[in-house]
Amino acid sequence: CPYIGAFQYPSKLDVSGSLVVEQLLKLATFSDVPNPAVTRIVFTPNDMKARAYVKDLMQLAGLTLREDAVGNIFGLLAGDGSAEGLVQTGSHTDAIPLAGAYDGTLGVIGGIAALRALSAAGFRPRRGIEVIMFTSEEPTRFSLSCLGSRAMAGVLSAETLARRLDENGTDFLTAATAAGYGRGSTQAMLDAARVKPGSVSSFVELHIEQGPELEANGTSLGIVTAIAAPAALRVRFSGDGGHAGAQLMPRRNDAGLAAAELALAVEAAALGTGAPDTVATAGRVDLAPNTVNSVPPQAAVEIDLRDVDESRRDAVLAQILAAAEEIAARRRVRLQTEVANRDAPATCAAEVVAAATAAAEQLGASHARLVSRAYHDALFMAQIAPTGMIFIPCRGGWSHRPDEFASPAHVELGVKALALTLARLAGA
Ligand code: GLV
Ligand code: MN
Ligand code: MN
Repeated sequence: CPYIGAFQYPSKLDVSGSLVVEQLLKLATFSDVPNPAVTRIVFTPNDMKARAYVKDLMQLAGLTLREDAVGNIFGLLAGDGSAEGLVQTGSHTDAIPLAGAYDGTLGVIGGIAALRALSAAGFRPRRGIEVIMFTSEEPTRFSLSCLGSRAMAGVLSAETLARRLDENGTDFLTAATAAGYGRGSTQAMLDAARVKPGSVSSFVELHIEQGPELEANGTSLGIVTAIAAPAALRVRFSGDGGHAGAQLMPRRNDAGLAAAELALAVEAAALGTGAPDTVATAGRVDLAPNTVNSVPPQAAVEIDLRDVDESRRDAVLAQILAAAEEIAARRRVRLQTEVANRDAPATCAAEVVAAATAAAEQLGASHARLVSRAYHDALFMAQIAPTGMIFIPCRGGWSHRPDEFASPAHVELGVKALALTLARLAGA
């Protein structure tokens, strides 16, 4: 009998960790750089190849496909219609420059495998269960994260999105339209992608931990209780530049040095809270013209900061802005700043945490509660539905690196835990 006890939750799930890993590694081949590194930017040719592969896998799993106006891709395992709302899962397949094969992709390929296994086990959910490939979780192209889930949650304004241009000056609508998505205007596109209130009954995302806790403690599954609050700041310093030989030191207002000082101020501000949960990173510094014999006239710095405590995160943001002003004044460079995003943290819903815990227990897997320090599409889905996340360990806690790795055994366990969590949330 494929069922246990009074609950119609499948006890035997046909999930092969090595097959899921094989599919992850196939997906990794759609990359702008040679593997093991993966670079896949939204709506580029490799992103389109990844989308086609995901849609193929959804179809092979017997799911019903749909796509929305911003390019989110959905695969549905139909419910029997006896309960309201869809249960959704999913993650992203875009990858930052020189990333690995598991970040995000696990939640998409693994989500498809989970639905395929539930269906193969003869499980007929009351609510439909849908796996989503979200558009552009990574902020690489348009300097804003989680575009697909922000659009679904209705928290992305047309003005904000239309202002985010890629490095060629292309806006999201133009790029989405060229990829076969979009609508006549940014507003119409966002209106079309917005989820109707009450139509999602819960959301759960499977992801690698991206940190070291699970592996260090020998724990197989992480059940996420909250997602830290991310913010991003863009700073531009402009000076007069000039010849690196002829421009004597007292006459200079070197924008590059202002950026260098700001990077140190970012570190000092994060360390200054004394809280290990505060993190801040000046991860991108662009000098123009970036030439050895020119005093840099332009320097752009992108800063990422996060904390589980939103007000402490905002205090650090204010401190970094004040440091930028002080540096600009002292170095006589012009300053432009833009807070690119300032998002609230998310608390995971007790019902999703409970379902994931029950799933881990059914599997006999060690599990622990933890906070997600990375952001995810779940951060925005939490604004429209009770939300949770399941983490599996990744080697050394490394992510956003080409050597990102999760074992096939953990991948298999994560997919099974996801399937059983979805089964509980969807109702038997
Ligand atoms: C997601 O990639 C993040 O930066 O947390
Ligand atoms: Mn990532
Ligand atoms: Mn991710």
